[in-house]
Amino acid sequence: MTNAEFEASGLYDGYSGNAGTLSDSGTSVFDPVLCELSYAWYTKEGDTIIDPFAGGSVRGIVAEKMGRFYTGVELRAEQVEANIIQGSELCDACPKWVQGDSAHIDELLPEDGFDFMFTCPPYADLEVYSDDPADISNMGIDGFLEMYEIILRKTVEKLADDRFAVVVIGDARGKDGFYYNLPGKTVEFMERAGARYYNEAILVTPAGSLPIRAGRQFAASRKLGKIHQNVLTFCKGSPREAAGRLGEVVIPDLEEQE
Ligand SMILES: C[S@@+](CC[C@H](N)C(=O)[O-])C[C@H]1O[C@@H](n2cnc3c(N)ncnc32)[C@H](O)[C@@H]1O
Repeated sequence: MTNAEFEASGLYDGYSGNAGTLSDSGTSVFDPVLCELSYAWYTKEGDTIIDPFAGGSVRGIVAEKMGRFYTGVELRAEQVEANIIQGSELCDACPKWVQGDSAHIDELLPEDGFDFMFTCPPYADLEVYSDDPADISNMGIDGFLEMYEIILRKTVEKLADDRFAVVVIGDARGKDGFYYNLPGKTVEFMERAGARYYNEAILVTPAGSLPIRAGRQFAASRKLGKIHQNVLTFCKGSPREAAGRLGEVVIPDLEEQE
C-alpha cells in the first residue's frame, strides 16, 4: 500500500502533532508502508511487538490489521488517549498503549519474551514533544543519550532470544552544527544491550522545500540537506534461528481484511 492509498483507505485519521496528512508531514508521522514491510519481514501472525517510544497510532494500528499484538509505551497522556480513540475506531481489538516513562518499562510492562522490538525514538531535540522532565527530547544531548541507552537496554531485555529489532532514527545537529551521530549511537547502545547490528536501510523522505532551503544553507555553511532516515535492524541471538522461526515472507492484503 502506498502512503496515498493508506490515507484514502480511511485507516489513517491524522495525528495530533502535525497538519494531519502523511505525505507533507515531515518527520512526525511514522511511515505506514515501512511499518507494513517491517512487520512482514521480521514478524509472523500472532507475534507480539514492543515499542518504547510509541508516538502516534500507526505502528499499533498496522500491527492489529496484520494480526500482530502491539504494546507501545508513550509518555504523553494526550497522545495515548488520541491513539486509543483511533485504535478503538479502526481495530477489532484496540492495540495496547501504556502511558508512562520508558525508563521504567521493566516495571510498566509485566510481559517478557516479546517477538519484535519496533520503535522510532525522538531524534534528540529535533522535535521537542513536551516539557515533562522525563521526556528525553528536552534533556540536552548528554541527558538524552544517557536515558536513550537505558530505555533501549531495558526494551532489549524484554525481547525473546532469536528475534529481530528495528529502530528508525534520523540524525540531528547540535547548536555547533556538528551531527550527534544518532544512528551510530543507536548501534552502539543496541549492541551493548545484546542485540547485534544486522541490516541497514535508508528511508527516503519527501524533499518538500529542502532544495530551496538547502541551497542557501549550503552557500553559508557547506551543510548538506538531508532527506533520509536510517532504518537499523538488529538481532538478539541467531539471525538464522530468527528467520527460521518466521518462515516465508507473507505480505497480507490489508484492503481484503477490511
Ligand atoms: C519520534 S516520536 C514518535 C513520533 C513518530 N514519528 C511516530 O512514530 O509516530 C517519539 C515519542 O517518544 C516519546 N517519548 C519521549 N520521551 C519518552 C519517555 N521517556 N518514555 C516514553 N516515551 C517518550 C515522545 O512523547 C514522542 O511521542
